[in-house]
Amino acid sequence: MSTPEHLFPENFWWGSATSATQCEGASREGGRGPNVWDFWHEKEPGKFHNQVGSCEASTFYKNYKNDIALMKELGHNSFRTSISWSRLIPAGTGEVNPEAVAFYNNMIDELIKQGIEPVINLFHFDLPVPLVEKGGWESRETVEAFAEYAEKCFELFGHKVNYWFTQNEPIVPVEAGYLNVYHWPCVVDFKRAAQVAYHSILANACAIERYRKAGLDGKIGIILNLSPTYARSDSPEDQKAAHMADLFCTRAFLDPVTKGAYPRELVELLKEHDQLPAYDKADLEIIAANTIDVLGFNYYQPRRVKSRDVAPAADAPFVPENFYDFYEMPGRKMNEHRGWEIYEKGIYDTLLDLRDNYDNIEVYISENGMGVEGEKRFEVDGQIQDDYRIDFISDHLKWIHKASEEGSRVRGYHLWTFIDCWSWLNAYKNRYGFVSLDLETQERTIKKSGLWFRDVAQQNGF
Ligand code: NOJ
Repeated sequence: MSTPEHLFPENFWWGSATSATQCEGASREGGRGPNVWDFWHEKEPGKFHNQVGSCEASTFYKNYKNDIALMKELGHNSFRTSISWSRLIPAGTGEVNPEAVAFYNNMIDELIKQGIEPVINLFHFDLPVPLVEKGGWESRETVEAFAEYAEKCFELFGHKVNYWFTQNEPIVPVEAGYLNVYHWPCVVDFKRAAQVAYHSILANACAIERYRKAGLDGKIGIILNLSPTYARSDSPEDQKAAHMADLFCTRAFLDPVTKGAYPRELVELLKEHDQLPAYDKADLEIIAANTIDVLGFNYYQPRRVKSRDVAPAADAPFVPENFYDFYEMPGRKMNEHRGWEIYEKGIYDTLLDLRDNYDNIEVYISENGMGVEGEKRFEVDGQIQDDYRIDFISDHLKWIHKASEEGSRVRGYHLWTFIDCWSWLNAYKNRYGFVSLDLETQERTIKKSGLWFRDVAQQNGF
């Protein structure tokens, strides 16, 4: 076998990622309590594509052994999923569900048996309903409850899981729930958004504190979706707009978890506009003392920003987009199937930003991938010929490889996702997997990209 042109560092992670709510199914079985998605689906099923809720996710709960065997077949040496909080602690706090403990133990053991590193995340948008009813992440009680839940997970599984992540994309519940209305509670209210963002960051630090107190040897971090921000032009107005978008969307999350403090400029701005969330001085010490060991970096698309054409009215409510606007760059490359821009170099730019401005923190690509609507049309002789996905992955891997050669401590790549999964309001509209799922029969079929990835993983490059 010849040496691959792009050879990755030893022990590089090759694998894929999913989350409990998106893959487990069995949402009313095994003692699982309802989470915010069950609660919302019951209230407004029409909001969900084809009215399909997460109870119809791909039944990993029952099929995990076969699915893990398939991962092995596709060359995975690592796999990320999350623990469902409402499966483990159905009331959000207090009693632990023994069936969930058995399931997660079995699942983790199976991964280890197959030589696949379990990478475990604690929160992926799926708050237990009893906590939703108390105000969700707006409430300080959720922070305490999360720290307690995290501690329980470390106690139960910490001796065999070496890589923990506290949360996935904490900006999403903030933006989607409190600014852009596509997650519960679907309101537009910056003050509440800021409170949720602050509580997520504090909860991350509290969980890390518990992890370190438990004296475990592994590493702990958080997963952020970091879209590099590019200004439309060099004009001072566009540059300023890009700076503001970057401040609100990236630095507001990345800085406190890596440097232990919020950017001064952001704090001053929120103070000036009377938008600071409620906080205790002691919290800031917890945030300062409990920064992450490792970062998960989800990358899909860049953020293209310009200055606003029209200034917001003097009495307009405070929202980040008062300071910038998005635009579609002419000539940009698109994922035709999903309506997202493809800009592979963005992954490299961000890895170098982390190298240069964040102490070259250890990082892994915790998600990257391509959603395709109506993917069945690419099926030939029973297999989806997803050459577009192979191109997408290899084009990103080339930039990751370059960043690694230039000193970035990037240690792995996980595709979103292994088997086509349920995706929130879009349900099964867009397919992302290495393996396709027949919704009627639950049959799994490896796509062309899955076989290609197996070879890449086996050669540690391509
Ligand atoms: C980000 C999220 O982590 C995941 O839940 C979602 O389904 C994928 N990206 C695809 O959009």
